Amino acid sequence: MTQRVLTGITTTGTLHLGNFVGAIRPAIAASREDGVESFFFMADYHALIKCDDPARIARSRLEIAATWLAAGLDTSRVTFYRQSDIPEIPELTWLLTCLTSKGQMNRAHAYKAATDANAAAGEDLDAGVTMGLYSYPILMAADILIFNAHRVPVGRDQVQHIEMARDVAQRFNHQFGGGTEFFVLPEANIEEDVAQLPGLDGRKMSKSYDNSIPLFEGGAKALKEAIARIVTDSKLPGEPKEPEGQALVTIYDAFASAEQRSEFRAALRAGLAWGEAKQQLFDLIEGQIGPMRARYAELMAHPERIEAILQEGAAKARKLAGPLLARAREAVGLRSFIAAPQVAAKAKVAKAALPVFKQYREADGQFYFKLNAADGTLLLQSQGFAEGRAAGQWVARLKREGTSALAELPLSAELKLDADAVGAALAALQAAEAE
Ligand code: TRP
Repeated sequence: MTQRVLTGITTTGTLHLGNFVGAIRPAIAASREDGVESFFFMADYHALIKCDDPARIARSRLEIAATWLAAGLDTSRVTFYRQSDIPEIPELTWLLTCLTSKGQMNRAHAYKAATDANAAAGEDLDAGVTMGLYSYPILMAADILIFNAHRVPVGRDQVQHIEMARDVAQRFNHQFGGGTEFFVLPEANIEEDVAQLPGLDGRKMSKSYDNSIPLFEGGAKALKEAIARIVTDSKLPGEPKEPEGQALVTIYDAFASAEQRSEFRAALRAGLAWGEAKQQLFDLIEGQIGPMRARYAELMAHPERIEAILQEGAAKARKLAGPLLARAREAVGLRSFIAAPQVAAKAKVAKAALPVFKQYREADGQFYFKLNAADGTLLLQSQGFAEGRAAGQWVARLKREGTSALAELPLSAELKLDADAVGAALAALQAAEAE
């Protein structure tokens, strides 16, 4: 089955080289894998929590959208949108908010960090804490659950939020799911092996340390100037230099082939001047970033193109979010007053079009069952069972557990199983059962 992978980027500030190497580049590479359906979005509702400057919010989401596109995101393969274009997200947020215990939110990292800081400063614990900050994890859960994402690539600091999303999904499934998995339980994908780029001073590159190298901002000139400020040791030209542990070399590695890496090291050991090494680093990065920067400038000059791409992305996203939210509203009891008879009428139509299980006995005296699609296509055929009861139990179990039971089922050898089609048929039977 295809895996849905979803990631949000909070749109505050501009991106630096560390964001590119640590988040954008691996995400774009992952979105090109087969069997993966990717969702990328600008978490601009989340941005409102951290920032109350409208001009900065507006600029940042535009810049970040342009950056992803310029970096090669293929929007025909992935769903790329702004969170705030999907009204289903805040609506689901409320349904989830009503299922989330306050005590759990008290323990959320972002909120705890704020109250800890207040305690240290001798302030009221909740000073400066908005409800937005407080319930931030619920909005994030809605981001993920509205698309039933399986995997969420995040940094370590976000793992707790994914666990909270699982929790609330589980609670919803239990209370309103009628025994089905209404929401997929998402898993955090922690990016351990993705390079964490050091900044100019060797600490992790971060806005808050003021040690970052801009990605596009300021053009090639700003890139060159920033590289010139990377801290090195004070060895003179011609003196052998130890490459390992130098921020400059680690940054070089993030853009270099294995061959380039070893050549660069050898040159430093042979006395390459730091100034010359910085020039080589600049050339290497500029060779990759330069063409992206040109695309970026082109896009920024045509915000209407970005708008059109994002509108298309929103439409694609809402095709999935709309029906899911409708089902969630139904499940919690927000139903049309006139829906009941209509639903019954629909169910009758639907019933005629449901897949069917058939149990039968063959001339060999064995008991069998098969599953036919609504159009009669054979989807599944069991092996023979000595007892009819065994076949019946399998049918019951498949109806109950869906495809997860499939792995253990003894199948007729000549049948080529289309697991997706079987899964869909079982889900249709389950849904009909739940009505
Ligand atoms: N909170 C995330 C961050 O600050 C951004 C984010 C918002 C997100 N919603 C998400 C990430 C959903 C993954 C999935 O980095």
